[in-house]
Amino acid sequence: MDDLTWLRMAALAAEKAQPEKTFENPRVGAVIVKNGQAIAIGWHEYFGGAHAEINAYRQLKRAEDAMGATLYVTLEPCAVHGKVGSCAEAMSHWGLARVVIGDLDPNQSTHGFGVQKLRSAGMLVDVIHTTDSQRLNPAFYQFHTHRMPYVQLKLAQSHNGMVTAAPGVQSKITDAVADRDVHLQRAAASAILIGSETWLIDQPRLNVRGITLTHQQPLRVVIDRRGRLQNHPSLRSSNWLVYTENEVFAQTDNVVLMADGLTGVMADLGQRGIKSVMVEGGPTLMQSFLDLHLWHECLIYTSDTPLTGGVAGLTHTQSPDNLQRVGNTLRKQYFNQEVAPCLLASHKPLVK
Ligand SMILES: NC(=O)c1ccc[n+]([C@@H]2O[C@H](COP(=O)([O-])OP(=O)(O)OC[C@H]3O[C@@H](n4cnc5c(N)ncnc54)[C@H](OP(=O)(O)O)[C@@H]3O)[C@@H](O)[C@H]2O)c1
Repeated sequence: MDDLTWLRMAALAAEKAQPEKTFENPRVGAVIVKNGQAIAIGWHEYFGGAHAEINAYRQLKRAEDAMGATLYVTLEPCAVHGKVGSCAEAMSHWGLARVVIGDLDPNQSTHGFGVQKLRSAGMLVDVIHTTDSQRLNPAFYQFHTHRMPYVQLKLAQSHNGMVTAAPGVQSKITDAVADRDVHLQRAAASAILIGSETWLIDQPRLNVRGITLTHQQPLRVVIDRRGRLQNHPSLRSSNWLVYTENEVFAQTDNVVLMADGLTGVMADLGQRGIKSVMVEGGPTLMQSFLDLHLWHECLIYTSDTPLTGGVAGLTHTQSPDNLQRVGNTLRKQYFNQEVAPCLLASHKPLVK
């Protein structure tokens, strides 16, 4: 088999990683090959856990089997000591003859350093530039390339396109199975964002429930230009952030003065290290994100039953890229082909 085929096998291993577990880390797979046989396969399983290369190495029957082998990995091995040690450093002691990499790390502060480290330890290193790593890790690439978060919109609506049964009320649209799917999406997000009206009506908890996390809960963000939420002390706890144009409200802890509208909010969240934002409504705020092309992905859960009367959901004319049955809903997934340039601007690496 050739290099591309082995890298494809590594990509299949990476696909076993679950985004709600790897969180802000990339989904990466690795295969160790010797004498034309795959002798070990591994992938990065959860945030804070061992990386793919290490998990593959641990699958070997004997450590010395790595001597003279080739390791295929979808993303450049890390060169820095983060939550786990440097993979490139560890690999330098395994006796590998060659390493084949699917893509360089998009993070400018580490880009190319893994390759350098492996080469200086005497290994032959080839970078093939396949697209699997980018396909599997859109938020990771978005953030590390542009220092702006990946924006995912999510809305539930009835069969006839309503988000609530009447203005000013909350309506339950999704069943427990669809709710679990939403919690899986939340678990993969750095932040969840809503509009002030949704806060006033629903007061949602916006946390991940029913899933064991090895990482922190998402940051909860509310957009409240007029400052109508000044008398809501629960929003001032540490895991909430409110953006407002009200200068008095902006003096409060965890409340930030908005500059440059929703684009400015995304830029500020990016500067805070927020890698992905899940926008959970309501429809007024979501429509603003759509109109500004300030999104990468949109998920709409449409239930089987109609609501009589009510508030209409989104005007979305594009055809869905994926359709999936989830509980009592049809989940439509859209990808934006016209992402706003502000989300795709180049960035200067932050000072380390
Ligand atoms: N079915 C679902 O998935 C779902 C999800 C969430 C909510 N809901 C329902 O939706 C209803 C509330 O939705 P809604 O559309 O009335 O309100 P909303 O989108 O939650 O909030 C609207 C507020 O967001 C702010 N906003 C809107 N566009 C903005 C922009 N371009 N820049 C900055 N801020 C902006 C404005 O705050 P200012 O007025 O202060 O400027 C506006 O009043 C509730 O009944 C809730 O239960 C349903």
